[in-house]
Amino acid sequence: MSIFEKFQPIAAVRKDLEESGILPFGVVTEQLISATEGIINGRHVILAGTNNYLGLTFDSGCIQAAQDAVQEQGTGTTGSRMANGTYAGHVALEQELADFFDCSYAIVFSTGYLANLGIISTVAGPEDIVLLDADCHASIYDACRLGGCEVVRFRHNDAADLEKRLRRLGERATDTLIIVEGLYSMLGDQAPLRDIAAVKRAYGGYLLVDEAHSLGMLGDRGRGASEAADVEDDVDFIVGTFSKSLGAIGGFCVSKRSELELVRYAMRPYIFTASPSPGVIASVRAALTALRTRPQLRTQLWNNARQLYHGLLKLGYTLGPQVGPVVSVVTQDKEHALTAWQGLLDRGIYVNLVLPPATPSGNPLLRCSVSAAHTREQIDNILAAFGALQKNMSAAMA
Ligand SMILES: Cc1ncc(COP(=O)(O)O)c(C=O)c1O
Repeated sequence: MSIFEKFQPIAAVRKDLEESGILPFGVVTEQLISATEGIINGRHVILAGTNNYLGLTFDSGCIQAAQDAVQEQGTGTTGSRMANGTYAGHVALEQELADFFDCSYAIVFSTGYLANLGIISTVAGPEDIVLLDADCHASIYDACRLGGCEVVRFRHNDAADLEKRLRRLGERATDTLIIVEGLYSMLGDQAPLRDIAAVKRAYGGYLLVDEAHSLGMLGDRGRGASEAADVEDDVDFIVGTFSKSLGAIGGFCVSKRSELELVRYAMRPYIFTASPSPGVIASVRAALTALRTRPQLRTQLWNNARQLYHGLLKLGYTLGPQVGPVVSVVTQDKEHALTAWQGLLDRGIYVNLVLPPATPSGNPLLRCSVSAAHTREQIDNILAAFGALQKNMSAAMA
C-alpha cells in the first residue's frame, strides 16, 4: 500500500469542495489594507475572522519598533535560544513578561504551539498523568504525545468531572498536571477557573492555563482568564502566544516556579528550533507595552464583541454560550455552512469556516472574531451581511 493511501479521505473532501466551487481553506489575502480590511478574490472585504483582537498588526509603534530592529539587528537570528539565538531583546522581553504577570520566570518561544509542546512534553513524561479539558487545542494534545504521559480527558469546562477523575486516581492525584484554556477558541466560552482551581487545591497537583485567546482580553490588567477569576496564585504555568492579541508570532510561558529555569534546558521544541527574529521580538515588546498602557483597546474590543454578539442573537442565529471576542455562529450542517461562508464573502465579509472534527459539538461553525480596530460601522456591515444571508437562505428553503 502506498504511503499516500491515508490521504484519500482528504482528497475526497478536496474534490467535493472543488466541485462546489467554494474553497474556504485556500483563501489568499491578496492585499492588506488595515488590521480589519483586505482584498480577497479581488474584492474589498472586512476581516471578521482573524485573531487580531487588539488590532495591533498595524499599530504604528509596533511597526516602527520592528523596522528599527531589522535595521539594527538584521532579519533573523539564525540560531537556537540555546546557542547563538538569544539577543538582548529576547532577554528583555522575558523580563517584561515576568514583570507583567508578576511572576519571576518567563521563557520566550518561537510560536505558541512550540511553547505548549516544550513545556508540557518536558514537564509531563512517561511516568506522569495529565488531566486535560477535552476541548484543548491540538498543540496540547500533541505535547502530551511527545512527552509520552498518561492522558486523562475530562468533560469540557466541567470541574465536577475533573474532580471525579482525580478522585479515581487516588494517591496518584497529587502529582498530576491539569491543563485548561482561559478562553476556548472555537465557541469563545471561558473556563470556570475558580472551580477548577478549587479542585486543584483540594487534590494537589499542578495547573497550566493556556491564555492564547484571553491575554489582552480578560482581567483588570489584561493578563487573562486567570487574573479575571482571581486564581493566579493557583496557576503554576501560564502559556500564551504572540500571534493573537500581540499581533506578531511567538509564544511564552511564565511561572512563579524556579523549576522553569531547569525545564528551559530540557525542552526539545525550545532547543532545536531557531529563536524569533529581532523584528518580531521588538514588535511584541511594543505590543505588550500597548496592551499594558492602553486599556481603552480592551474596552473597545468588548464594545465590539457585545455589538456583534447581541446583533447576531437578534437576527436569530445560534451562537456560543458567552459574549466575547470570539463569536461563533453554529450552523446546521456542512452544506449550509459552506453556502453561508461563501455568501458572506460575496457580501464582503471574511469569517473562518470551521468543519468537524475541528469543532467541539460536531456542528460546523462560522467563527467570527472581533478586533478593537473594528469600527462600529464595520460591525454594522458584518451584521447586515448576516441579515441578508438569512433572508436569502429562508427564501431558498421556502
Ligand atoms: C489555545 C491555543 N494554544 C496555542 C496556540 C498556538 O499558537 P501559535 O499560533 O502561536 O502557534 C493556539 C493557536 O491557535 C491556540 O488557539
